Amino acid sequence: MSDLMPCELKSRNRNINWALAWARAYLDFRGIKGSSLDARVLLAHCLGADTVALYRESERQLSSREIGAFFKLVRRRGKNEPVAYLTGRKEFMGLVFEVNRDVLIPRPETELMVEKALHLYSRYWPDESVILADVGTGCGNIAVSLAKGRPFSKIYAVDISPCALEIAERNAGVHGFGEKIVFARGDLLAPLDGLGLEGKISLITANLPYIKSAEINSLMPDVSLYEPREALDGGPDGLDLYRRLIPQSLRFLTRPGFLLMEIGPEQGREIASYLAISGWKFECFSDLAGRDRLVVACP
Ligand SMILES: C[S@@+](CC[C@H](N)C(=O)[O-])C[C@H]1O[C@@H](n2cnc3c(N)ncnc32)[C@H](O)[C@@H]1O
Repeated sequence: MSDLMPCELKSRNRNINWALAWARAYLDFRGIKGSSLDARVLLAHCLGADTVALYRESERQLSSREIGAFFKLVRRRGKNEPVAYLTGRKEFMGLVFEVNRDVLIPRPETELMVEKALHLYSRYWPDESVILADVGTGCGNIAVSLAKGRPFSKIYAVDISPCALEIAERNAGVHGFGEKIVFARGDLLAPLDGLGLEGKISLITANLPYIKSAEINSLMPDVSLYEPREALDGGPDGLDLYRRLIPQSLRFLTRPGFLLMEIGPEQGREIASYLAISGWKFECFSDLAGRDRLVVACP
């Protein structure tokens, strides 16, 4: 930082273009990929503007306070802190979700699960209002997106992390689904025991941790240093949680009923053989990059 800063700070013309050029150079210097977009998003966040406004107002002079706030965020990004944690927000299915370091940052590939769940709803229950459970809800992105997409009668959103549930509840409230989504803390489907939901849940969505424990430290630093380990670690082969969830789901699902699980690109075959041995029907779907990403299973 200090090696890039002094001459740059002498500039009299401290406008948006100048700040962006500095941030890009700094982030490139720190080896951050996508420096141009990151710089724009962070500056827009500091100015309370959108990124398009930065093009329109590229000559606008910045105050010392604005520059100070921006430089602080850029420095943190230079240490690999994800942009979503710096801005406190992430878009998913066209909705904005509050995020912080207690929750995984929603990924675009997870939108596939939401799309498949919406499709199954329309195909099997076009005129009904059914119950859904979202296991490992994190910031509530899947539960809230589904609540917006179809008239579920109730959605149960479970997470083991109380801090994640707090954020999920806030997100549900902001998007107007505070009443529709019931939040429950605990292990997988255990918090739904005793609620009379056996045989009554039509869809279970689960984006549970599926990274192999031994691989977590070798993930990119944005993930390994900043995202919560309990949102990533799926045990020795990454499938510990799904192997427990699959038999639990049998008790709760309607017939027909579907369990949707996001998986890692190399886990399709393994989960398929587990489901086959357990007598489930299933289909595996690929993400836009053509890698296995989602399993839809039906008992
Ligand atoms: C990969 S994150 C997914 C978050 C969010 N659903 C999404 O798609 O971005 C996994 C979530 O599962 C939660 N989790 C981990 N183990 C769990 C368990 N045994 N029971 C319930 N939730 C669990 C974590 O706290 C984390 O919020």
